Amino acid sequence: MCGIVGAVAKSNIVPMLIDGLKRLEYRGYDSAGVAVIKDQSIQRRVNVGRVAQLEQDIDFDQFKALTGIAHTRWATHGGVTEGNAHPHISKNNVALVHNGIIENHQELREELTAKGYNFYSETDTEVIVNKVDDFISQGSDLLEAVQKTVALLKGAYALGVICLSESGRLIGARSRSPLLVGIKDNEAFLGSDMSALIAVTNQFMVMDDGDIVDINNGQVTLYNSDGDVVERDVKTSSLSANAIELGQYNHYMQKEIFEQGQAIADTLEGRISADKVLEQSFGHEAAHIFDQTESVQIIACGTSYYSGLVARNWFEKFGMRCDVDIATEFSSRPHVVPEDALVVTISQSGETIDTLTALEKAKKWGYKYSLTICNAPESSLVRTSDLVFMTHAGPEIGVASTKAFTTQLVSLLLLAIVIGRRRTLEEKTEHSLVNELRSLPVKVEQALAQDQQIAKLAQRFADKHHALFLGRGLHFPIALEGALKLKEISYIHAEAYPAGELKHGPLALVDSQMPVIAVAPNNNLLEKIKSNIQEVRARGGQLIVFADQESGMDADAGIEVINVAPVDDTISPIIYVIPLQLLAYHVAVIKGTDIDKPRNLAKSVTVE
Ligand code: F6R
Repeated sequence: MCGIVGAVAKSNIVPMLIDGLKRLEYRGYDSAGVAVIKDQSIQRRVNVGRVAQLEQDIDFDQFKALTGIAHTRWATHGGVTEGNAHPHISKNNVALVHNGIIENHQELREELTAKGYNFYSETDTEVIVNKVDDFISQGSDLLEAVQKTVALLKGAYALGVICLSESGRLIGARSRSPLLVGIKDNEAFLGSDMSALIAVTNQFMVMDDGDIVDINNGQVTLYNSDGDVVERDVKTSSLSANAIELGQYNHYMQKEIFEQGQAIADTLEGRISADKVLEQSFGHEAAHIFDQTESVQIIACGTSYYSGLVARNWFEKFGMRCDVDIATEFSSRPHVVPEDALVVTISQSGETIDTLTALEKAKKWGYKYSLTICNAPESSLVRTSDLVFMTHAGPEIGVASTKAFTTQLVSLLLLAIVIGRRRTLEEKTEHSLVNELRSLPVKVEQALAQDQQIAKLAQRFADKHHALFLGRGLHFPIALEGALKLKEISYIHAEAYPAGELKHGPLALVDSQMPVIAVAPNNNLLEKIKSNIQEVRARGGQLIVFADQESGMDADAGIEVINVAPVDDTISPIIYVIPLQLLAYHVAVIKGTDIDKPRNLAKSVTVE
């Protein structure tokens, strides 16, 4: 949540800051702002709304500088107002951007107010900038003032700070919120992630929790939380500026839905042989850890949690006990910690604070091993897990997750296979599953070919206020994911139910105004779901059924059937989610919502 960019360079940095903000906008887009050191003063431009608006309001011929910071906000403390927009400034001396939440802001605010500081915003951030100024007024330089300030903070933060009297200097600090340092010749940058910096450099250092970076006229010095100078590896990002361009598509979500065949092929590459899953792709320690593993505990949020719910079916089918928790619930409930449990976190961003907190707690409570399935190579989850398995989905910019989900499913199936091998999964079943996995990219293309048919179907939703999604077994999580996609981007209230639960309550909601979407692949639950469909039909519900073309499900009064090409049951969730993604996308197009940046949401949820 919130995106930060900062720069100290040899030439004007304002265009780069704005470009960086645009690339970070997926993290938050309530308001945006930039502050630079110019003409012996700190000059700030802020706007409620999008970065594009800020860009329009800046006179680029006039507003030029060599040192500056910028921010795109996802509001936590304080409403969406210009006053609350970052950067925040103290006494026209210090400017600061912040991503995170400061828990002890009230006591710091009281202390600073007593010293004569006036607060103009409702944010927790303003206490930080004032505290830095306070230390500077007592004789500290900017670095020391930030070091002393962060020592007082409780909570999570990534900071970028500049000061009028040290005009070529930028200080960054992080604790439990992501921050990278970009390096280029005698210039250096700060960014919440590499997408912010990729247009200017592909060289970067990841800051550890507690690190403070001093960027002083191109010199970069890193300090750890003890104040000691530390070295961090300079890495080369594989991200390309083109990978995050929209190209021929209207929205990132559309682009990402259509990239799923390639993303799955990339995720499988090097991970399967002719007929086996290559266990080494989970890391050197993997074989040893999997040999010890007696149960699996999956932890994730949102869409990533739903991929975990699908995977539980696979783990248990192959003989391995598996629990799945929403991260915040995992952290909130009591646990009898099983012996030799493998904690599997799933995350697109690798920075979701709820998932990170749950992993920390799991380790503290005695869960023995950890593995993360993640799409962000240098993320906090990757750095704190024993084993790492990267989904190679590429950058996902649309706030509503699509290709991250399907590549998570592929990765989880690979994991279930290597662990299941040690249990009840037979060699010949593994061979046939690997074959099915190899055929997935083609099957994804077949599913995508139904795009126009689904676009037509979407017209029936545009005037609806509610929708019900039904699925059973492996496909209940797919119904959940379909409902989540619809509500996120079209703002239609959507619920998902296990089809068998219908008669225990939700059937009361069914009428002609409530479209009911059923996911009905051709498996051992087909006859049961057919009965559930009839229960809806008998009550005047309007059904849309996604069914295998060989399942014998015929269109009838009140039932529209969308045929899905036949697919093996185990991998079928990976295919059946695609028409639901397309449905949500086309409904949102008709409704004219902001598809890639739906209201109130942010892509990377780095606050609790
Ligand atoms: C929904 C969506 C969210 C994320 C959730 C977890 O479309 O994107 O529900 O899945 O916030 O995020 P990650 O996977 O980054 O941990």
